Amino acid sequence: MDIAVIGSNMVDLISYVDRMPEQGETLAAPDFQMGCGGKGANQAVAASRLGSDVLMVTRVGNDIFAKNTIDNFAKNGIDTRFVLETESTSGVAPIFVDKDSNNSIIIVLGANEKLSPADIDAAADEIAACKLIVLQLEVPLETVYAAIEFGNAHDIPVLLNPAPAHPDLDIERVKSCTYFMPNETELALLTSKPVDTIEQIREAAQGLVDQGVKDVIVTMGSRGALWVNSTFTKEIPAVRVEAKDTTGAGDAFIGCFSHYLVKSGDVEKAMAMASKYAADSVTKLGTQSSYATAAEFVGAR
Ligand code: RIB
Ligand code: NA
Repeated sequence: MDIAVIGSNMVDLISYVDRMPEQGETLAAPDFQMGCGGKGANQAVAASRLGSDVLMVTRVGNDIFAKNTIDNFAKNGIDTRFVLETESTSGVAPIFVDKDSNNSIIIVLGANEKLSPADIDAAADEIAACKLIVLQLEVPLETVYAAIEFGNAHDIPVLLNPAPAHPDLDIERVKSCTYFMPNETELALLTSKPVDTIEQIREAAQGLVDQGVKDVIVTMGSRGALWVNSTFTKEIPAVRVEAKDTTGAGDAFIGCFSHYLVKSGDVEKAMAMASKYAADSVTKLGTQSSYATAAEFVGAR
């Protein structure tokens, strides 16, 4: 096994809208797409499509969505032994994508809220055999903290993508992760600092490093990515593309980064590849439906 993703899955219900409806208004939208999503699942699928062996630890509901989600993991070559069924609805994400390809997302966590530290214990042998643990914040914080402790105890690097931004995230309890990877919005919320310019982003990230976080890698969408630690700062430029749908681009970055990090151990290379992979994903509609396989990923050549 290469990567254990301990995190969420959702069903993405994407409406392509001309504009958002006003309160009390019924508005027709030109297009709709339903697909598998959720930050954890997205990252797992991206890494698996690129060729990593991925173990998914997650919870689905006991509704019509569950089987489709499990089948989707299996179809993407992901180990589903710890995709656990729960007395609950599955996680769903109504998403609105506007004409400028910007997205607004509502998440209803459902079964994801039931992923517990005990589920990590149940999968302990399998997780312990992985080279990287990947986490996000669409499951209970106690589970995230337990996963970081598990990684530390077993000497497995841990990548924490603190998304979506969570006001109660305790930096003290996550600072022992190996890679802390927020986007600009999450960085701003976590640090209460401005993130308009690259210099401000660098300063905000530096603030986290000063609090004891080892390597902070900020994904900045069309502005690229920034890696900050106690000794240096490295900026990876973005790849310019014509954006159609940016939903899940951050997850494409994390999944691809994880894949190349495990394969090469080279953080800078992993960032550069991830930047190309995420850019490629925004040129296509949908979340996982826009993630290239290794063969399709032209940036890799
Ligand atoms: O990051 C994009 C994802 O956020 C979507 O797939 C949606 O499910 C939400 O989790
Ligand atoms: Na996309």
